[in-house]
Amino acid sequence: MKLAFSLFGLFLAVQAGAASLPAGLRLIETSPALAKAVALRFPGEVRVLTENVILVPAALVPEISQVSHETTGHCGGFMDITDETGHKTSVRVTEALPSLGSKQPWIAELIDDVRAPNVRDFVGAYSGNFKTRLASSPEGASAPEWLRNAWENMARKAGRDDIKVETVPGPDGYAQKSVRITIPGADPELPVVVLGGHLDSINRRGSKVAPGADDDASGIAALTETFRVLLSSQARPKRTIEIFGYAAEELGLLGSRVIAQHYQATGRKVRAVLQLDMVAYPSEAHAVTFITDNVDRELTQWTEQLYGLYVGGDVKEDRCGYGCSDHASWTRYGYPSVMPFESPMGEMNHRIHTERDTWDELLDADHAAKFVKLAVAFAAQLSGE
Ligand code: BES
Ligand code: ZN
Repeated sequence: MKLAFSLFGLFLAVQAGAASLPAGLRLIETSPALAKAVALRFPGEVRVLTENVILVPAALVPEISQVSHETTGHCGGFMDITDETGHKTSVRVTEALPSLGSKQPWIAELIDDVRAPNVRDFVGAYSGNFKTRLASSPEGASAPEWLRNAWENMARKAGRDDIKVETVPGPDGYAQKSVRITIPGADPELPVVVLGGHLDSINRRGSKVAPGADDDASGIAALTETFRVLLSSQARPKRTIEIFGYAAEELGLLGSRVIAQHYQATGRKVRAVLQLDMVAYPSEAHAVTFITDNVDRELTQWTEQLYGLYVGGDVKEDRCGYGCSDHASWTRYGYPSVMPFESPMGEMNHRIHTERDTWDELLDADHAAKFVKLAVAFAAQLSGE
């Protein structure tokens, strides 16, 4: 009883940012079932602090998903909340979403410029260049440099000296940084529009080979093609657009958390966040599937409508059941996010997190291009009006 009491005290102190954990321990939030399963698997090493928060040696963090697969049969989510100093404390600062009547010709024109093969080519180049993009590996440290360089070259070639491409701090203790493109808006006081995907990869079967083509080179490639199309438009948006490659998503949404937390702490205003994580595997359904948990409902419905207007085709909805990607970090800090996903959960790509997540006939550039078109419409519509 005494032990339980003092551990609970530790949890509260860490949450309040008043104390730091002993070195080598990570604070993990997950479902109650998974918390229990992990504690059972590593008795004596894992401590259960509350129903859904456990204290885990850093080395065991990558094992959590494995335990989930073996005990529950599906991907179980968890969040590393060690460095969290409070969340959902801000009043959300948003502007009303613009009402969507008929297509705007200038947006339709931008969308016509989207080229599906560019997505496939970029996935090949990015995922082929690194054996793994694991955040804790040496290759994982150079992936953001490669990406920053690629994006920087695009901006320079287009003669856009006003566009900034930079690495931003990743999570403490990892060499991997996040990357941010800033396309400055005419009015810097207005809330910014954010697009993002994660730049890291992982192999959860023990191998060190993690091409992560679908998960999530496809999202990074879709953002790259979106950027190329936005660059071709000389029109300067009213609001600033930011495009992120997030570090260390696979280790618990770490890179996006650092960013969302920093934005909240510094009072940055964000109008909307679009997350692209896995966009190339169409499954049988060939439907863009909007995730309904850990996202903003209103923004999701608006984005579905936007999709119908500018892209068209089948749309479904499904839930992850946990904070399965970086949209959840933004939601956690009070920013509205939306996540369109490649397939319904029941038909998901089972090769992710293995050596076999490469580009082959199961991945489809035309499917990925739907997400690019959506991202272009999202950025154009929300930054302009
Ligand atoms: N891209 C996946 C999330 C995903 C997988 C969404 C399958 C929908 C279907 C993401 O990169 C990932 O692997 N997330 C982790 C959770 C994270 C908190 C470590 C997961 O799902 O296990
Ligand atoms: Zn992913």
